[in-house]
Amino acid sequence: MNMFNKIRLKSEEEIEIIQKSSLLVGKTLAEVAKYIKPGVPLTYLDRIAETFIRDNGGVPSFKGYNGYPASLCISVDDVVVHGIPDNSILKDGDIVSVDCGAYLNGYHGDYAYTFAVGNVSEEKKLLMDRTKESLYRGINAAVAGNTTGDIGHAVQTYCESFGYGVVRELCGHGIGRNMHEKPDVCNYGKPGKGDLLREGMVICIEPMITLGSRKIYCERDEWTIRTLDHKPAAHYEHQLAITKNGPRVLSTYKLIGEVLGTEEKL
Ligand code: MF3
Ligand code: CO
Repeated sequence: MNMFNKIRLKSEEEIEIIQKSSLLVGKTLAEVAKYIKPGVPLTYLDRIAETFIRDNGGVPSFKGYNGYPASLCISVDDVVVHGIPDNSILKDGDIVSVDCGAYLNGYHGDYAYTFAVGNVSEEKKLLMDRTKESLYRGINAAVAGNTTGDIGHAVQTYCESFGYGVVRELCGHGIGRNMHEKPDVCNYGKPGKGDLLREGMVICIEPMITLGSRKIYCERDEWTIRTLDHKPAAHYEHQLAITKNGPRVLSTYKLIGEVLGTEEKL
């Protein structure tokens, strides 16, 4: 699909530019966070995001990507990822992954956060917290000299220790001038296997974790990915560069945290 089948390393200057694209995503997600409440239609959230990205000089990365029709992926409860915003409304107790991409100055930002709508069950809260923690464990493994398998292994072992399912059909990815570049960054794996991580790589790590079985299916719209058992799933994504000083996270949840009133580590 993409012309960059080789891993493309980025210069420090490029990494600075990518961080700006990522910041636009962060600001957009924080804007969307203000409207995550019971009764809000998904299309409304998508409109907020598209307007915000364009008002800030960017272009929504997802819109038109392989024919994708919207600016956000909004994935509610048993939708794992790639939910297309429609006229359905958020309900109290839902969990919703909002995934956003912004193209600015020739580079893409792309990351995601799972929100609670109103009051969610303890079971869902734990699923969200542990999925986010698995992302942080994956990030800690994203060190030059390690491999993509080390990242996957860190995510997988943590999540499976709680009996959760780790989705395997979809992975994280490299990112830069294209939204999806090499390498694939899967959420399962064996230490030392996969692609070697090198200074200058920019990647997205995005665990997709299910409360029940890891089995999924794709709906007839050819986008929406759901759990086969219809149990909920959580999805978080951060974007980072591999540097000689370790992982440099280019994305941030801090702006979202300011809206939600939560303490965010990254
Ligand atoms: N953030 C998603 C990913 O990392 C991209 C959504 S696919 C799109 O793969 F088609 F909606 F753009
Ligand atoms: Co991504």
